[in-house]
Amino acid sequence: MSETAKLIFRGKEYEFPVITGTEGEVAIDIAKLRAQTGAITLDDAYVNTGSTQSNITFLDGENGILLYRGYPIEQLAEHSTFLEVAFLLIYGYLPKQEEFEQFRHHITYHTMIHEDLKRLYDGFPKDSHPMATLSSMICTLSGYYVDSSDPLNARHREISIHRLLAKTPTIAAYSYKKSIGQPFIYPQNKLNYVQNFMNMMFSVPAEEYILDPIVEKALDLLLILHADHEQNCSTSTVRLVGSSRANLFAAISSGVNALWGPLHGGANQAVIEMLQHIHNEGGNAAKFIAMAKDKNSTFRLMGFGHRVYKNFDPRARIIKKAADDVLKKMGIKDPLLEIAMKLEEAALSDSYFIERKLYPNVDFYSGIIYRAIGIPTNMFTVMFALGRMPGWIAQWKEMIENPSMKIGRPRQIYMGAPRRDYIPVEKR
Ligand code: SDX
Repeated sequence: MSETAKLIFRGKEYEFPVITGTEGEVAIDIAKLRAQTGAITLDDAYVNTGSTQSNITFLDGENGILLYRGYPIEQLAEHSTFLEVAFLLIYGYLPKQEEFEQFRHHITYHTMIHEDLKRLYDGFPKDSHPMATLSSMICTLSGYYVDSSDPLNARHREISIHRLLAKTPTIAAYSYKKSIGQPFIYPQNKLNYVQNFMNMMFSVPAEEYILDPIVEKALDLLLILHADHEQNCSTSTVRLVGSSRANLFAAISSGVNALWGPLHGGANQAVIEMLQHIHNEGGNAAKFIAMAKDKNSTFRLMGFGHRVYKNFDPRARIIKKAADDVLKKMGIKDPLLEIAMKLEEAALSDSYFIERKLYPNVDFYSGIIYRAIGIPTNMFTVMFALGRMPGWIAQWKEMIENPSMKIGRPRQIYMGAPRRDYIPVEKR
């Protein structure tokens, strides 16, 4: 007999099935709750609500565990590459060499964007945030592939996935080039994913661009660490938009917009701006820790805290070590890293943060590495989107390919005015 949960409501007893996940996490299946009791649940910001069953990523927030298709993030960070992790997340297994080469070929040969799409950049102000450009351009891709973006067509899904993974770095690099008034650099098929992106970002027609292998490895690592994170805000957005059967480009474009917020992916930019501000103010960590604790202050310690991780974010642990390594190898002394470490040390010994289980998250140290490898601050969240692309795609694909997929439509409890009749304006 499988486990159930009992509910006593208005004198009647109800029983609901309990679902147990691979790693032992449990959920009460309330699919029949309203039909049986007339009541719905209410859970502001879905803190306690599971939206789906998924085979892709597992988080254990209490123990700081992150698995992509069962593989620990620490092992993938050490042994894999971003493109291989993308294959793993999207298709569910580690590819054989020839499978991976075929996948890499598809991604490489879709990196160029339509010349008309390039011209759209002329319409953006040079200072517009690259996340605005990214979400606009990704959504606009659906205008160029009208004949192959039916989410219910398997071949359309496949080629849209290849196009999206391939063109996002090009779109991202072009928004940077536009902002600095430099010519767009075409993709180079002889380069791998990270080399190609960095070449499009930093090479100029006037001279050859040589990518430091230290930088290449650091960026590939960051992309792996950002690749998926189960049902976070932006992934849930992608799923909700995709559940209406909008095409993949439209769904992902919505995810980019959700990620932009400073409470989510926008935090990596906010962290560096915060550290820069603290540095400019003399580097007094204690003063800013006090502000973060002060309920009357809107200041938050950006890069700290997490809805799921109530222990160290395993990604933050890896990035912190990588930041130290990369700066040492590159001979860079970044005062912001010192401030970040001082803040972390002060916060982790302060009861306010300990009681609330606030630890550094993925965004706390990532900006230090982006800075060291020359990525401008306003491109940090674009880098997060680049990394998260395979995760969004994998989650969308899992949902679309589920034969019992339904459009997402939460309910509510109405607390507004009771029914009342219209009052003509002369009688108001
Ligand atoms: C990402 O979901 C994911 O998986 C996201 C992500 C991914 O890979 O997709 O991991 C990426 O978005 C990481 C988070 C990046 N955001 C930030 O670093 C912004 C700063 N952090 C927070 O704003 C906050 O911690 C959140 C948004 C991350 C989580 O917010 P919750 O779960 O809604 O928690 P909360 O805001 O209710 O905070 C609980 C308490 C509150 O105090 P009390 O009301 O109990 O007194 O902790 C406090 C908060 O005021 N708090 C902080 C704080 N974060 C929470 N206080 C100071 N500084 C902070 N950073």
